Amino acid sequence: MVDFHSHILPGIDDGSKNIDESLEILREMYSQGITKVVATPHFLARLQSVEEFFHARDEAIQTLKEALVGIEDVPEIYVGSETEYYDGIGECEELDKLTIIGTKILLIEMPFTLWTEAIYRSLMRLQERGYVPVIAHIERYISYQNEQKCLERLEEMGVQIQCNCTFLTNRFTKKKALRFIGGRHINFLGTDSHDMSSRKPKMDKALKIIEKKHGYEAVEDILDYSEGALRSATVVI
Ligand SMILES: [Fe+2]
Repeated sequence: MVDFHSHILPGIDDGSKNIDESLEILREMYSQGITKVVATPHFLARLQSVEEFFHARDEAIQTLKEALVGIEDVPEIYVGSETEYYDGIGECEELDKLTIIGTKILLIEMPFTLWTEAIYRSLMRLQERGYVPVIAHIERYISYQNEQKCLERLEEMGVQIQCNCTFLTNRFTKKKALRFIGGRHINFLGTDSHDMSSRKPKMDKALKIIEKKHGYEAVEDILDYSEGALRSATVVI
């Protein structure tokens, strides 16, 4: 079972603050059945260079790697980024430092506004260059868009979509989340875990909610798809 979006690397963003917290989150993930997790620390081009991010991420990976020696009850860790959309992303020459290592998959946090033609063009440009843009937590910005048109357009473009488990577990958004899953608009599920309090992993609950409404096949479909997407990815830890 794959968790496609998480902030488990210690001390690099607003996610896990230290090794102990990372370990606690990872063990909780494992107990929920997560066997593979993609660490996706925030990359904000307005605050740092790709190079700076890359080095900071590398340091966090090393720290975690050392702490996990001999520890078995945690998922395999893959590493990418959650890259905040910025003007010029389509032409960025260092994207390979931001994609999930071993793949061309780029998780993108989109603007919390109505997306312009220029934004859609940037996504298209990424695809022309062989990248696979994945929209991080679609539920956060879909209300700024014309929902149907936006989903159709992304689908036509072949842009992939991730939603957070909380989209399903939150009683105010659950109905919409289930409609998105039923409509096959969601490619990947992520816990977007930051800590073990208000933003802890909720994969087990989310999957139960999907199964109850759409059957186990729907759960299997989404999990198989994630496994497939990670086929060429590198297990970092
Ligand atoms: Fe995130």
